[in-house]
Amino acid sequence: MIVIGCDHGGFELKQELMNYLKSIGKEVLDCGTYDTQSVDYPDIAEKTCKEYLKGGYEFGILICGTGIGISMAANKIDGIRCALVSIEYSAEMTKRHNNANMLAFGGRVTGVELAISILKAYMNAEFEGGRHENRINKIHSLEK
Ligand code: RB5
Repeated sequence: MIVIGCDHGGFELKQELMNYLKSIGKEVLDCGTYDTQSVDYPDIAEKTCKEYLKGGYEFGILICGTGIGISMAANKIDGIRCALVSIEYSAEMTKRHNNANMLAFGGRVTGVELAISILKAYMNAEFEGGRHENRINKIHSLEK
């Protein structure tokens, strides 16, 4: 199960990524927004991340116009490691080294085909653990 959320700037890309994920057999929980009416991305980040933190999700996806605001908001929430990704290499490495549990995209930055390719790079990668686990623990110690 994957949880996804967007503001109005990410609505179209959210629909496309949901369609892709469903086409490969993934279940997706849609935290909105559900149309192109203007909403505030911190509200969507909060709703989506809190849903993710309930447990049972592989990872989450957040989309706003640039991906910047919604990733900034997500990373304020304890337990969230949100990576704003715009190329496959970063997506692969954020899984391998940061074990990002939330991916952010810019709906006005990244086209559908590239976004799907980036998503595949993340999903096909594995967290390496070891020294990277220690570094992740240090990230979360900054929350205190
Ligand atoms: C909304 O216009 C836009 O500011 C938002 O989607 C996002 O790009 C903010 O970082």
